Amino acid sequence: MSPNQEPVATRTVASTQSEMTEIILPNDTNTLGNLLGGRLMHFIDLTGAMAAYRHSRTNVVTAAMDHIDFIEPVHLGDLLTLKSSVNRAFSTSMEVGVKVWAENTQTGTVVHVASAYLVFVAIDKNGRRQKVPQLITETAEEQRRYNDALRRREYREAEHARRKQEQKALDAVKAGT
Ligand SMILES: CC(C)(COP(=O)(O)OP(=O)(O)OC[C@H]1O[C@@H](n2cnc3c(N)ncnc32)[C@H](O)[C@@H]1OP(=O)(O)O)[C@@H](O)C(=O)NCCC(=O)NCCS
Repeated sequence: MSPNQEPVATRTVASTQSEMTEIILPNDTNTLGNLLGGRLMHFIDLTGAMAAYRHSRTNVVTAAMDHIDFIEPVHLGDLLTLKSSVNRAFSTSMEVGVKVWAENTQTGTVVHVASAYLVFVAIDKNGRRQKVPQLITETAEEQRRYNDALRRREYREAEHARRKQEQKALDAVKAGT
C-alpha cells in the first residue's frame, strides 16, 4: 500500500494535546475493585487517537501500543485523567505518548498510574495510507520526546526484523519435520 499524497502542513505539539477524564465505575473493575488493565488500555487507545486525529486531520488506525507501564492500581470511584500528544510524525505514522493519573475523590490525592507509547497510521477515506504533517517542537521537553521517538522507532523496526527472522527459522524447522 503506497501513501497517496505529499505532506501538506506542519503542526505544533501543543496543537495535538488531548485530554480525557473518566470516573471508574463497577463495570470497569476486577474482583479486587481495581481498574481492569484492558479497560485502561482502551482509554489509552482513545486518548492517543485524539492526538493523532488532531495532528493528521484524517482517519487513523492503531498500528502498535508498544510500551506500557502499569505503575499503580486505580480504584473504584477514582477520577482517571489521561493526557496525550504527538511525540513525532514520520511519513504516514505518528508516535503518540499518553500519561495517566488517578485522583482519589475523597482526599484529592493525584497519582501517576500509567504511561504508554502508541503508533497510529493515517488512512484516507479509501483506506489508503496518507502522509501526515511534520511536527514542530517548541520546548526542550518536546524536543527530548521527539528525539526519543526516533530511537523507539528504530528499536521497533529491529524487533520486527528479529521476530520475522525467528518465525522463518521456526517455519524451516517445521518444514523439515
Ligand atoms: C497499520 C497498517 C495500516 C500498516 O499498513 P502496511 O501497509 O503494513 O504499512 P507499512 O508496513 O508499509 O508501514 C506503514 C507505516 O506504518 C508504520 N507501521 C506499520 N506497522 C507498524 C507497527 N507494528 N508498529 C509501528 N509502526 C508500524 C510503518 O513504520 C510506516 O510508517 P511511516 O509511513 O511513517 O514510515 C496495517 O497493518 C493495518 O491496517 N493494521 C490494522 C490496524 C488496525 O485495525 N488497528 C486496530 C487494531 S485493534
